[in-house]
Amino acid sequence: MKKSSRLLPSLLSIILGASLLAGCGGGSTSDSGGQAGESGGSSGGGEIVAKIGVVSFLSGSGAAYGEAQKAGLELAQAELNKANEGKLKIELLFEDSGGKKESAINAVNKLINQDNVVAIIGPTLSGEMFAAGPIANEAETPIFGISNTAEGINDIGEYVFRNSLPESIAIPTAMKKAVDKLGLKTAAFIYAANDDFSVSGFQTMKKTAEELGLENLGESTFSIGDVDFSAQLTKVKELNPDALLISGLYKEGSMIVKKARELGIQSTIIGGNGFNNPKVFEIAGDAAEGLIVATPFSPEKQDEKVQAFVKAFEEKYGKKPDQFAAQAYDALYIMSQSLLQAGEADRNKLRDALAQLKDFNGVSGKLSFDENRNPIGEAVVVVAKGGKYVPFE
Ligand code: ALA
Repeated sequence: MKKSSRLLPSLLSIILGASLLAGCGGGSTSDSGGQAGESGGSSGGGEIVAKIGVVSFLSGSGAAYGEAQKAGLELAQAELNKANEGKLKIELLFEDSGGKKESAINAVNKLINQDNVVAIIGPTLSGEMFAAGPIANEAETPIFGISNTAEGINDIGEYVFRNSLPESIAIPTAMKKAVDKLGLKTAAFIYAANDDFSVSGFQTMKKTAEELGLENLGESTFSIGDVDFSAQLTKVKELNPDALLISGLYKEGSMIVKKARELGIQSTIIGGNGFNNPKVFEIAGDAAEGLIVATPFSPEKQDEKVQAFVKAFEEKYGKKPDQFAAQAYDALYIMSQSLLQAGEADRNKLRDALAQLKDFNGVSGKLSFDENRNPIGEAVVVVAKGGKYVPFE
């Protein structure tokens, strides 16, 4: 039921897109240098030229996610185009969705039908992927999520991939560790009811609480765009739970953390994937102290590959990368490896190469896909301390 209601708004776009696509054939290569009507690029003179579309939350309340993703992709693009000179040239075409489903749908249609990209990276939000992913899938164009962590993303279809670790792996890891170490017994939940990712994260939190024997004291909701959380948090204060679980994006999530501490709520706060961005510290300030989240990437990890990435990122942008930048960076390396394996910028050959990916060693860990093209990976649990996340030991 849920899935079909998500797919319905996309049907018109699929029909429009499919009619525009007729005759395009989903991808070809030649040595003609990328004429209109070809998809994805060309292999002129033996060099594969691959046009990859990117749909990202580049403006609005989640712009820090998009900024990190763009930075990670552009760093990878510069490195890859240098390393693969004469073999593969990647062109990136960015589209700003502003975190809106309609804009993501329009961007995906444009990239596929006008720009003839070989694949799409993004969109940023799970809700956007649920809306726009079916269009790419129908048009037989690989679409690769780099931050979609809700359940059910890959059920859209066989052209849909992601390297973002689902909440169903990350959240239980964080909750279990917090319960084990802190002896938590009771919980209250707050989540964004108008955001697919936040709803999915909440469902995972609730199920995990049941499994861990955490007593559910109450649930409340807010909407993306809200600025006043007093009513919900006054209720939480009365409930006085050991743990407050928040499922939302960084802007509202951080405001909730701040307000909770202002009201004197002492609960251990555990958040979902939306909190994996340094904006949390800017918005929540000292109130972020003690916030627990799980992440597949930490810039503090003592690993040669991770530290080389952190150094290159800091040199280019003057700050450390977050998980959104890391997963974007890894995704372009995965695309590049798969395009070289495919031998040409062809949508179907690229899809097949992506599906075979095994043991990719990225900065956000080792990656293989399960039979449903979901990433198999691990999360580390971190805690906010002194304005950054450090391992929760
Ligand atoms: N992880 C968030 C989502 O899936 C950004 O929407």
